Order: sequence, then structure tokens, then C-alpha cells
Amino acid sequence: MIRITGLSKAFLTPSGRVTALQEINLTIDKGDIFGIIGFSGAGKSTLLRCLNRLEEPDSGTIRIEGNEITRLDKVQLREARKKIGMIFQQFNLFESRTVFGNVAFPLEIAGYPKERIRERVEEILELVELTDKIASYPAQLSGGQKQRVGIARALANKPDVLLSDEATSSLDPKTTWAILNLLQDINSKLGLTIVLITHEMDVLRRICRNAAVLDAGEIVETGPVARLIANPQQKTTRLFLASDGLPAAARAGHDPHGGEESRDAG
Ligand SMILES: Nc1ncnc2c1ncn2[C@@H]1O[C@H](COP(=O)(O)OP(=O)(O)OP(=O)(O)O)[C@@H](O)[C@H]1O
Ligand SMILES: [Mg+2]
Repeated sequence: MIRITGLSKAFLTPSGRVTALQEINLTIDKGDIFGIIGFSGAGKSTLLRCLNRLEEPDSGTIRIEGNEITRLDKVQLREARKKIGMIFQQFNLFESRTVFGNVAFPLEIAGYPKERIRERVEEILELVELTDKIASYPAQLSGGQKQRVGIARALANKPDVLLSDEATSSLDPKTTWAILNLLQDINSKLGLTIVLITHEMDVLRRICRNAAVLDAGEIVETGPVARLIANPQQKTTRLFLASDGLPAAARAGHDPHGGEESRDAG
């Protein structure tokens, strides 16, 4: 379980103070696929980056499985981060390392023996269906393949929590679908908690069970995705849903976790 209490964060810029997060309170269940939605600048990335303290909160506490992340010193934080995988929007791969080298990286940092690293990398590349690209460099891969390397790297050390910042926003619908299926698969097979930022309604509807709506650094609404879609309480939520371009009634009857073919799939 992830428990966020009273989390605030502001940035000091030459033109003044920018409040990115204000008194965020949020609980995310273990094993959930939790969506964070909201318009550009709402504070989504800042919130996600606070969870592994890539961004230092100004105040508030973050607990992941009882471990108070906000209290850890540098050494403890490095340890805790081994169990928090992160997928970046822009892939953030090492261009000079092969696919193998990229996925092996967190395992090298964790000090695993060579044979164990090879074993694990091969295992995880199989999961993301990239076995044939093990010796390729990022420049030789498509966007979707790079994203899958990013996912493999994030999962290499068997994290308890996976943070994903717009992992599919630069991908075509077919590749997006494949990545979402993969995340869903990993969630059910490994039981890890996924916290996922998205601005795409399809992504939210397709794989998130619960979600929070951020607006100007505050959570304005949170709950099961089916409820948010069927009965949004806040203007921001309604605007966000409307930005999908579909009538609300059509969405209300749609089961986000049903096995039916999506109308967008073909
Ligand atoms: N390093 C920074 N320095 C100054 N201001 C920042 C910094 N990072 C974010 N901000 C500001 O904090 C606010 C929240 O930014 P954040 O990146 O969290 O938004 P977001 O919801 O992820 O937006 P997007 O959908 O565009 O990615 C914005 O006003 C942004 O300009
Ligand atoms: Mg962002």
C-alpha cells in the first residue's frame, strides 16, 4: 500500500514561486493499477517523482509498504529505490549500451553476480518479447521497442511498485495496446502496484482500476475508474472525460475491465 499524507511541493523560479502540489492525501492499494489524470501542468509528474524522491517534497509523508520514504537517508533511499521501478516518457535509455546492457544496469548496481544478471535479463526480455533484440543498441530500435526496454529495465529488479509517466503517449494505438496488455499481464502475474500517469482516456479506461484527478496541484476527485466515468463529480473530471470526444452515456455503459474487443482495436 502507498499512503501519501499532506504532501506539498513548490518550485522556486526566477519569476516566483510555483506551487506544484498542495496537501495531497492519497492511498493506493497494493496490487492496484492506479491512474493519475489531469491537464498539463496539474502536478502529475511532480507527484509521481515525489514517490521515489526524484523530487524532494517540501512537506508531508510518503509510505510504501510501511516504509516511510520521506524519512530515509541517502543510503536507505538507494536501497528503497531498488524496489521502485520507473518508466519514463522519453525512454531515458543508455545509447552506448545494448538492450542487454540497459536492462542489466539496475542489476549491476544492485551487485548481482554475472550469471544471475544474464539469467534475469533473458527472462525479462522474454516477458517483453524482445529476446531477438538483446544485442541491439537503442538507435536500432523502434519507439515501441525502446519503451519495452524501458519497461524491462524498470522491472528487472522485481520492484514492488512501478511508476509510469505517460509511458504510451508517444506510441501508435497498436503499440500502446501491446504495452498496456503487457502492464496488465505483469500486474496480474507479479502482483505489483502500478501508478500510471496518463492523459489518454483510453489508457485510463483500459487498465486502471482506481484513479485520482489532479487540478492545479490538488486532488479534486478520486475513486474507482468506472465510477469516475459513469458519475464524475467535479468539473475537471467532466472536462477531462469530455476531451475524449465521446458522449458520457456511451462511456457509462462500458466496462473498463471487460474482455470485449475495444472499438479502437481494429
Ligand atoms: N523543475 C521545475 N522548476 C520549476 N517549476 C516546475 C518544475 N517542475 C515542474 N514545475 C511546475 O510545476 C507544475 C506542475 O508540473 P508537472 O510537471 O508536475 O505537471 P504535469 O501534470 O506532469 O504536466 P504535463 O501533463 O504537461 O506533463 C507546473 O506549473 C510546472 O511548470
Ligand atoms: Mg508530466
